[in-house]
Amino acid sequence: MIPVNEPLLGERELQYTHECIRSGWISSTGRFVEEFENSWAAYCGRRHGVAVCNGTAALQLAVAGLELQPGDEVIMPAFTIISCATAVLAVGAVPVLVDCDPRTWTMDVDQVADRITPRTRAVMPVHIYGHPVDLDPILALAQEHDLAVIEDAAEAHGAEYLCGRARGDGTWRRCGGFGTASCFSFYANKIVTTGEGGMVLTNDAALARRYHALRNLCFGTESRFRHEGLGFNFRMTNLQAAVGVAQVERIAETLERKRWMGREYTRRLRDVPHLQVPVEEPWARNVYWMYGVLIGSEVGASAGQVAAVMREKGVDTRPFFLGLHEQPALVQRGLFHEERYPVTERLSRQGLYLPSSATLTEDQSRHVGEVLREVVS
Ligand SMILES: Cc1ncc(COP(=O)(O)O)c(C=O)c1O
Repeated sequence: MIPVNEPLLGERELQYTHECIRSGWISSTGRFVEEFENSWAAYCGRRHGVAVCNGTAALQLAVAGLELQPGDEVIMPAFTIISCATAVLAVGAVPVLVDCDPRTWTMDVDQVADRITPRTRAVMPVHIYGHPVDLDPILALAQEHDLAVIEDAAEAHGAEYLCGRARGDGTWRRCGGFGTASCFSFYANKIVTTGEGGMVLTNDAALARRYHALRNLCFGTESRFRHEGLGFNFRMTNLQAAVGVAQVERIAETLERKRWMGREYTRRLRDVPHLQVPVEEPWARNVYWMYGVLIGSEVGASAGQVAAVMREKGVDTRPFFLGLHEQPALVQRGLFHEERYPVTERLSRQGLYLPSSATLTEDQSRHVGEVLREVVS
């Protein structure tokens, strides 16, 4: 079976984790946590990094640091992981949705302005499957309405966005370097992985201090067990961070392989009838975290049926997200009553992603391409 993902790991990861074991520094104390925070923040063009135990915790920390009030609103795409909504619900705030763009599958930035109310406090753009959100309009709205921007770059390590293109002098900057704070997951299927892991980045020193405190139970500074705030234990271990440091060192190679994988699939699949493949807008550098495809309704089979046949032929796939407005756990809380997001609904029913490892070989890519072509033709 060709897996959807396998991590790219090597000698450096072994060497650094051995160092943790030999030295005994296996908890969240040890040189690698800070080194990983610094190297990842620098790579993304940010000043401060706060490593945590997973991407869901990163979102929760990022939102908790904003000190929202119950009933405050955060605008986010309907097409994303449930962690975006749970982070907002955890502080008593309300997720407010927009649909996604039918080409890039990222949040439809033209819908954001209409969703702003006097209770709106933040916008949460989520880069999807490696393609950046069109951030300029969001950053402009955020400035105009004094909103925080929490960028979810879990799926877009190393992706780039051409900001300021409307002025004609745009500059390419890495995703994860925009807005108030940005969040990452380093789960095993991510471009940079620590097995499980996450990070929040920000340029704001005061916010970074708050994140540090919240990550570690808000231990007292003068008297350790006297807590002035309610925090979490979201600490990352030195062992995880050791893997992360090695992963950042190899990111250029990983990205090169990912972009090769994306180009290969697109070359093989772009002429398959009734199949929509990922785009790369002129203002974006897609890192193809996962290579998603949309099966046209003309094919007469759902994405699930296509996935089942591909599995029989040795190709593993995964379905796309179910929209937040269709999540039973959220609808049962009275959220998103009768709201419809047609693009998200189409994606969730007709999308699946193909084996997308950085380790994918040419033979595997050919096999996947042939199987998919045969199944949908
Ligand atoms: C966009 C996005 N945000 C956040 C997360 C949550 O990350 P984690 O699985 O590390 O909790 C994911 C998980 O894949 C994700 O895709």
